[in-house]
Amino acid sequence: MSRLRCVGFFLIGILSGVACGHDKDAASDASTSQPIAAVVDSARLAGAEQEPGSWLSHGRTLSEQRFSPLDGIRADNVMLLQRRWVYDTGTTRGLEATPLVVDGVMYTTLTWSVVVALDARSGEVLWRYDPLVPRSVGEKACCDVVNRGVAVYAGRIYVGTLDGRLVALDAETGDPVWEVVTVDRSLNYTITGAPRIVAGKVVIGNGGAEFGVRGYVSAYDAASGELAWRTFTVPGDPSQPFESDAIKRAAETWTGEWWKVGGGGTVWDSMAYDPELGLLYVGTGNGSPWTRHHRSPGGGDNLYLSSILALDPDDGRVVWHYQTTPGETWDFTATQHIILADMEIGNEHRKVLMQAPKNGFFYVIDRENGEFISAKPYVTVSWASHVNAAGRPIEVDGQRFADGLTFVTPTFFGGHNWQPMSFNPITGLVYIPAQEILGAYRIDPNFKLSKRGYNLGTDLSVFAAFPPEAASGHLLAWDPVQQQEVWRVPQGLPWNGGTLTTAGNLVFQGTADGRFVAYRADDGRTLWVDHTETGVIAAPMTYEIEGTQYVAVMAGWGGAFGLIGGTAARGVAKGPGKLIVYAQPEDAPTPEEIEAYITRPGDVADGERLYHRWCARCHGAGAVSSSNVPDLREAVVRLGDKLPIVARIGLQGTGMPGFGDELSERDAVLIQRYLETRTD
Ligand code: HEC
Repeated sequence: MSRLRCVGFFLIGILSGVACGHDKDAASDASTSQPIAAVVDSARLAGAEQEPGSWLSHGRTLSEQRFSPLDGIRADNVMLLQRRWVYDTGTTRGLEATPLVVDGVMYTTLTWSVVVALDARSGEVLWRYDPLVPRSVGEKACCDVVNRGVAVYAGRIYVGTLDGRLVALDAETGDPVWEVVTVDRSLNYTITGAPRIVAGKVVIGNGGAEFGVRGYVSAYDAASGELAWRTFTVPGDPSQPFESDAIKRAAETWTGEWWKVGGGGTVWDSMAYDPELGLLYVGTGNGSPWTRHHRSPGGGDNLYLSSILALDPDDGRVVWHYQTTPGETWDFTATQHIILADMEIGNEHRKVLMQAPKNGFFYVIDRENGEFISAKPYVTVSWASHVNAAGRPIEVDGQRFADGLTFVTPTFFGGHNWQPMSFNPITGLVYIPAQEILGAYRIDPNFKLSKRGYNLGTDLSVFAAFPPEAASGHLLAWDPVQQQEVWRVPQGLPWNGGTLTTAGNLVFQGTADGRFVAYRADDGRTLWVDHTETGVIAAPMTYEIEGTQYVAVMAGWGGAFGLIGGTAARGVAKGPGKLIVYAQPEDAPTPEEIEAYITRPGDVADGERLYHRWCARCHGAGAVSSSNVPDLREAVVRLGDKLPIVARIGLQGTGMPGFGDELSERDAVLIQRYLETRTD
């Protein structure tokens, strides 16, 4: 097919939804003989910015901005985006992973911590590793049997499994190289987060603060799997020696016998690393049980719950901390996505860290020293009036629900949950999968620590008859310097997918109701939609191979709200899971080529322009009739030179008007010439 013919079809394609020149076979015979050694070292990870075609670590770069400098797919051509390949995951529960792409190979995870490696161009499966997680472990997972992805380093793929293992796989074959158990398996620990590579170590946390555990984060030597350090986030039994000075100081902010009920503060998702400052940032979770009333009855801030910890990656020492929710009692985790960026704030160049944790405030913190810069509510916040200049929230009376059933916003689903946000340094905006869900809390007077099931201390039955109107979601574009909303797109349902933003002035996000959408990054206009048949909660990613930019997203409804949402989740899409990869149609013309085609000289080009000016609205774009109005490709053969006459005089008593006033005889003949080219 010649380029020009392709362009011709292509224009028709735009108007009629037909794709041009997409040779489906081309994708399936893409070469898979390339080496898949995944040669990634610390320098390559730190230099990810210089490698826009890859997605080397969880948030693309160590700063976890989830911004891609690729601009092959842009606001002015994204409407042509189409599916290039789809991998049917064979799963029905939540898919939360961000795939990585290294040297043409995609690595991602499915439910039950299964890892797959695929040819990133064709979707061909290269290998699949199933850690055979005992299904009984699913009961220990608060929020579905999910996994958020792998880490790649020195020829190995690292995955944390739901049953608490950290496994190193050979990148080439998917065979396990080493495996360590990172948790006490007699307790309710699980791993759902993606490991991170920091200074030659694999860092992994865990979850379980709904089930009475004590949180910690561990680092293992990437080569041997030997434990390098472990940092607890909350104090243990004070009759035993404290693990560190930081934990000793933390213990002063607890009361009662918290260690008997766990404490919580699990590091189940977010991390970011600044190799220049030599600091690893981790977010810590809620208290265990949720209610401070049951956990630390005499009050106290309960360090380091709901905090951001800056750790020394060599030994895990706490260098500084910032607590978002002192005395946490609402399940307000600070495990939400952490983004590192440099920006001008008040005429000063600041190295900042940004987070939109569950508690509803958007935080900007100095990442060198933990100094509080600013915090403003990004969703409706009822529990605190504001955060004061010292960085401490000023609580609203009664919101600790001591006096019975109390409505609180946000709720334990958060104003924003684990679904990653993204930061676009060109627009200066952060794109947050935000949600408004009314919370209802009531102290459970019969609370008693149990080995199985939730240990929350508050009563979930108040949600049984929750009206769907009490829960909604929106994509929020937030200016972190001004600390204000710039635009929002309402999405009806909450629990929508993570976001990706690109230099093509785009934000990609999937939704709970089963759409995958591209928005303009500067003003939020919807530019393109694909229907995914299942709700999307994962974050999309993008990569480039041989000049073609791809966008990938895992589609699989589930996660915490997916499981427990009840009536508030009415209307979500629940189809089978899949990994969908999009690209522009092969041979897609550039806007310049389209312009050149439309304005090309010649009789046929003039006839085409006249036809689309006067006739196409009834007879169809490209002379392809899509209704019962006659198809002129056939009529022109039958009528021959009579056609220009019909065009000028019309057909009396029918809906075919005459165009003699608008079209000269020559014009009408030009239309005939054009129609003649469309008969084949
Ligand atoms: C407002 C709608 C409309 C527009 C605009 C229009 N047409 Fe038509 N045309 C019709 C309809 C309806 C018929 C069928 C009339 C019938 O036979 O009932 C028709 C019939 C014809 C026929 C006869 C087809 C046959 O199978 O015999 C020709 C030729 C034709 N149109 C040419 C043109 C051309 C050329 C233009 C543009 C200059 C044009 N029409 C614009 C509605 C339209």
